[in-house]
Amino acid sequence: MKPRDYDLNALWMPFTANRQFKGAPRLLVSAKDMHYTAEDGRKILDGTAGLWCVNAGHCRTPIVEAIKRQAETLDYSPLFQMGHPGEFRAAGLVAALAPEGLEHVFFVNSGSEAVDTALKIALAYQRARGEGHRNVLIGRERGYHGVGFGGMSVGGIPANRKAFGNMLGRVDHLPHTHNIDHNAFSRGQPAWGAHLAEDLETRIVALHDASNIAAVIVEAVAGSAGVLVPPKGYLEKLRAICDRHGLLLIFDEVITGFGRTGRAFAAETFGVVPDMITFAKGVTSATVPMGGVIVRREIYDTVVNDAPPGMVELFHGYTYSGHPLAAAAAEATLALYHEEKLFDRARETAPYFENALHALKGVRNVIDVRNFGLMAAIELEPAPGRPGARGFAAFLQCFERGVMTRATGDIIALSPPLIITRAQIDELIGTIDKVLRNLD
Ligand SMILES: Cc1ncc(COP(=O)(O)O)c(C=O)c1O
Repeated sequence: MKPRDYDLNALWMPFTANRQFKGAPRLLVSAKDMHYTAEDGRKILDGTAGLWCVNAGHCRTPIVEAIKRQAETLDYSPLFQMGHPGEFRAAGLVAALAPEGLEHVFFVNSGSEAVDTALKIALAYQRARGEGHRNVLIGRERGYHGVGFGGMSVGGIPANRKAFGNMLGRVDHLPHTHNIDHNAFSRGQPAWGAHLAEDLETRIVALHDASNIAAVIVEAVAGSAGVLVPPKGYLEKLRAICDRHGLLLIFDEVITGFGRTGRAFAAETFGVVPDMITFAKGVTSATVPMGGVIVRREIYDTVVNDAPPGMVELFHGYTYSGHPLAAAAAEATLALYHEEKLFDRARETAPYFENALHALKGVRNVIDVRNFGLMAAIELEPAPGRPGARGFAAFLQCFERGVMTRATGDIIALSPPLIITRAQIDELIGTIDKVLRNLD
């Protein structure tokens, strides 16, 4: 291993135990297809697609080439009051993958920005249609919607909220759907829990009055809190209640978008169509940051037609919205998904993944295994008095044995690139099995 020619100290790492990491760093220096290479030359099998994002696999040649070509041709152009062809093409390709009726795409640079943008569009829409009093936003416990003040407020992960004081004031939360007593070791959607959606009507609408509520945002499958799969019938109920009361329904598909559930979007997989979809990560297979919101036609028309001719309609956007490199990466990524039929491949691989995962039932400390498409969680009994320690130890030992997983508390989360083979699934789960059997 070459000596490092840099210091670790200057960088404040996000969502990281900085002191632990800097004492025993895990550095990745290159990647190809299903593998990272660590600085000591070891190959690491990527069981998490980076951070749920490298859906096409690493350093795929057509995407790399498209980014290079774009960087040589048009490095940057603003999207305020002008544009470039690539971002219009990319928007068309994304919209074509979305359910019928979701036709317009607003580009941003991350999932957090996508969520805050969707919440702002919801408020702007309600105002434009003369319902400006609808300004309460509804999220869900254990939801993760990024780290902006909007996403943090509708999100429901206590650690992500507790240090940050002021949040959006007019927010409420649905109960989460995770219940090991009822649903442990469910394969796919759990049978129990659809009734939890009724809280939207019986408590939240009853408390705030529908006339004050703008929108409800949920992850189609909650990812970061540990892969919480919606119970059968749950999303359908949410949709019906939103329709009854004129509430917009937003699916945060930052993780579930672009093949993770075996279709372009989870909305299609579940057959439930929201009014907006937020996306990021897989749109460029994470090669260049990009995110966005796909919006139902009526929402776009209402906001856009509400402004006087020649005037800006939505005072919102980012310097890098629709960045040319991101747009080029998106075009190439979406073409690659199509050519290699990677969404179908994910759907076909999912049952093998499911069987391999559920073989972990009965392994020491495993209290639940759950899965949907190519996402999964293995939940461990927390070590007494040390919540999270067992999950983190499992993550570290997997990494040492050449397999990348993600620990969220005592839950090991998996979301491999859609190109994973059966042999690689065996290696991934086999390594986790060995690690868990040897963990304290
Ligand atoms: C559902 C969901 N929404 C939003 C985000 C935030 O995305 P980003 O980290 O790109 O801001 C994430 C990130 O994992 C996510 O899983």
